[in-house]
Amino acid sequence: MDIALDLGTSSTRICVEKDGKVVDQPSVIAYDKTNDEIIAFGNDAYRMLGRTSNKIEVAFPLESSVIAQSGLVEELVNTFLCEVCTSRVVMPRVLACIPGEITEVQKRAIVNAISSFGVRRVLLLESTKAAAFGCDKDFMSPHGTMIADIGAGSVDIAVLTLGGVSVGKTLKVAGNAMDEEIIKYARRKHNLIIGKAMAKACKEAIGTVMYEDDELTFRLKGRDSVRGLPKFVDVTSSEIMEVIFDIAKNIAVAIADVLEDTPPELLGDVNTDGITITGGLSKLKGMQMLIENATGVKVHIAKNPEDCVVNGLYKAIDYIDEAEAQRNSLNPLMMVY
Ligand SMILES: Nc1ncnc2c1ncn2[C@@H]1O[C@H](COP(=O)(O)OP(=O)(O)OP(=O)(O)O)[C@@H](O)[C@H]1O
Ligand SMILES: [Mg+2]
Repeated sequence: MDIALDLGTSSTRICVEKDGKVVDQPSVIAYDKTNDEIIAFGNDAYRMLGRTSNKIEVAFPLESSVIAQSGLVEELVNTFLCEVCTSRVVMPRVLACIPGEITEVQKRAIVNAISSFGVRRVLLLESTKAAAFGCDKDFMSPHGTMIADIGAGSVDIAVLTLGGVSVGKTLKVAGNAMDEEIIKYARRKHNLIIGKAMAKACKEAIGTVMYEDDELTFRLKGRDSVRGLPKFVDVTSSEIMEVIFDIAKNIAVAIADVLEDTPPELLGDVNTDGITITGGLSKLKGMQMLIENATGVKVHIAKNPEDCVVNGLYKAIDYIDEAEAQRNSLNPLMMVY
């Protein structure tokens, strides 16, 4: 059995059959602080976020697409893999994605978390390559393909060719950082304390990085920071735009920086084909236009952008046998365990 695993900062997605995503749940875990007992995972744990008693902690154990709390990630991975591995007679091979810029220690932590489940082999693939497979971009030929995967914890940008990365960059500031800015803004401007889930919902509902005529509003509910009582404030899309714009702009500039370092022949290919953006944050209103303005290149939002990486990992399973036999030096996979 072969498993495609996208262990993302905000969501974990697993695919074991074509177009069949079998796990798509928040990468969240709730545990009892007094005895470290795990109470809930995924959707169940996310519902507890900001609503726990004082003995329960809800944690997102991944930060910027790498492991921040290794024990908790191990528990998370084991639970999700158990859900999809019906038979333990044959140990599975797991293909997981990693950010382009990652240290050996961070890579090892991901491999250890997966191998603790009991697997035959762990293989890794950079998320930009997985995303490219996921949106049917051929980067195995000598032709430049530019992808930016814009998620919750990181932005991964690469120009791919011949199965590898020509120029790449990882930015550790993405959707989660925008949520943090919304939390800080609500407190600073409206004396309102809100939780992470509320900030994320607000960004997804009315977040935009371009000026629009019709103003949307969103009701932020939380606690008055002065009186400590329940309070709500209606915020507008232009207010939120001011709060998140700098982060979006930095993402667009990082993509332009990668283009500046791209060799001319590949640059020509990218200019003709455009840049493809994947990941949940590529759905943020105005993001596409902001990147087009910063780069002068057409930008395409992939279909179902948040699923591109896991779908691409699933397609890349076809390369596992070849990677194990070490037959093709252009093989895009990294075999680590
Ligand atoms: N319609 C939307 N508008 C704005 N942001 C959105 C929308 N839908 C999802 N997002 C944001 O996209 C991010 C999640 O994207 P994704 O699922 O690709 O991240 P991830 O894979 O878990 O994280 P990473 O790859 O960075 O580790 C979150 O910040 C989420 O709020
Ligand atoms: Mg991701």
